[in-house]
Amino acid sequence: MNKISIKIGVLFFLAIFLLECISMVFLHNNILHSRVHEELTSLQTRGNNHREILEASFHDETIRHIAMMEARTDIQVILTRPDGTIYMSSNRVTEDMKKIMKTVPKHVPHEGLILEDDWKNEAYIASISPVLVDQKITGYVYMFQNTQKIKELISGLNQHFLIAGLLSLLFMIIIIFTLTRYVTQPLIQISEATKRISKGEFSVSLPKLGKDEIGDLGESIKVLASDLEILKNERNEFLASISHELRTPLTYIKGYADIARRQETKGEDRDKYLGIIFEETGKLSKLVKDLFNLAKIDENTFSIEKEKVHLRPYFQSIIGKITPALKENQMDLVLECSDDLYLFLDPIRFEQVILNLIDNARKYSEANTKVRVEARNISGKVHIKIQDEGKGIPEEDLPRIFERFYRVDKSRTRALGGTGLGLAIVKQLVESHGGTIKVTSHPNIGTTFEIIL
Ligand SMILES: Nc1ncnc2c1ncn2[C@@H]1O[C@H](COP(=O)(O)OP(=O)(O)OP(=O)(O)O)[C@@H](O)[C@H]1O
Ligand SMILES: [Mg+2]
Repeated sequence: MNKISIKIGVLFFLAIFLLECISMVFLHNNILHSRVHEELTSLQTRGNNHREILEASFHDETIRHIAMMEARTDIQVILTRPDGTIYMSSNRVTEDMKKIMKTVPKHVPHEGLILEDDWKNEAYIASISPVLVDQKITGYVYMFQNTQKIKELISGLNQHFLIAGLLSLLFMIIIIFTLTRYVTQPLIQISEATKRISKGEFSVSLPKLGKDEIGDLGESIKVLASDLEILKNERNEFLASISHELRTPLTYIKGYADIARRQETKGEDRDKYLGIIFEETGKLSKLVKDLFNLAKIDENTFSIEKEKVHLRPYFQSIIGKITPALKENQMDLVLECSDDLYLFLDPIRFEQVILNLIDNARKYSEANTKVRVEARNISGKVHIKIQDEGKGIPEEDLPRIFERFYRVDKSRTRALGGTGLGLAIVKQLVESHGGTIKVTSHPNIGTTFEIIL
């Protein structure tokens, strides 16, 4: 048994027990009252019956007949004269009876009275019926019934109630036990599953928990666990990639620095090695900068400060920055953007998006090719296309190029200074602007990146 089952079980039990007690007491009192009432009225009716016979014929014969009728029952009939002296009794008159007979009120109605109804404390219950002949009271019919019988009846009733109470209590406990188990079982399974998840066991298996809120909770936890697992794996992969990426330039730097500092290294060679070291340090600092940017975007510690930007001059200024690099590769850039396009964006962050994409177009294209930058308003959204005539991206790599450190041709790309973070940053930045980015590519024809904002 676990804590929650006990808690729910006890609460259930107390509530139902209270309810049962109240209804039992109520029922018991009702039955008891009506049984006693029944006995009392039947006694009085019986007395009235005798009285009617007497009123019809008040003769010794009739009186003896009545006495004989009651002599064998547990009821005793006594007939008195108007002054109270006993005329006839079906049995011996006891002291208790005499005591009750003394309590007769002055005026007794014709339909009679209950003289004693205290079945609990007295030996008899009793009734009285006056006998009227020619409008004159000729006597009283007293009826007595031993309360022993009623007491037995009541104690039988109590016993039944006790048995019924105990039985329903037993059933109640069994039902509550099974019900609480049924209700709490899924919760316990969920709690155990979360404990396992927190220990790093992500492949939790929860049985079907039904279609209610608890079932939903179970489903959410499964999703959470698998998300956590993916996240953890991603993080591990990411860390592995980072250390790998850092190691390569560092090995170069260390190796060339070692050769460069040797006495026998010629000045000319030393310059070459120092050049390599400088280049590798450059790559390293770009890598670290990119990583830092990505981490900032991930943490959301980074805010996009949007402002209204006139697109044409904005693109022209970006293109101005990258043209020298393109010229070096003998490449041309064409801008196609009408003068009436405006966008809300963070100019500094978005410049990085465009620069990264144009830089890719430059890096992965041959000489004498063109890059087109195009912005258009299509049904209220601005579509920005960056199109090159480069070597393209194989179809199987397309879905993965936005992943961190993903490069199509690792060794060649690294030679070009690529770390595989550029597009990951582009995607994050576009998404934090509320936009989407798509890519289409045909090997040896070219690649097009399309941003929709
Ligand atoms: N325009 C393109 N043409 C052909 N291949 C591309 C193009 N853009 C990206 N790629 C491929 O996608 C990979 C990922 O690009 P991404 O910009 O993320 O990394 P990178 O250019 O290698 O490094 P970085 O941008 O960090 O310097 C590249 O290595 C390249 O193989
Ligand atoms: Mg790039």
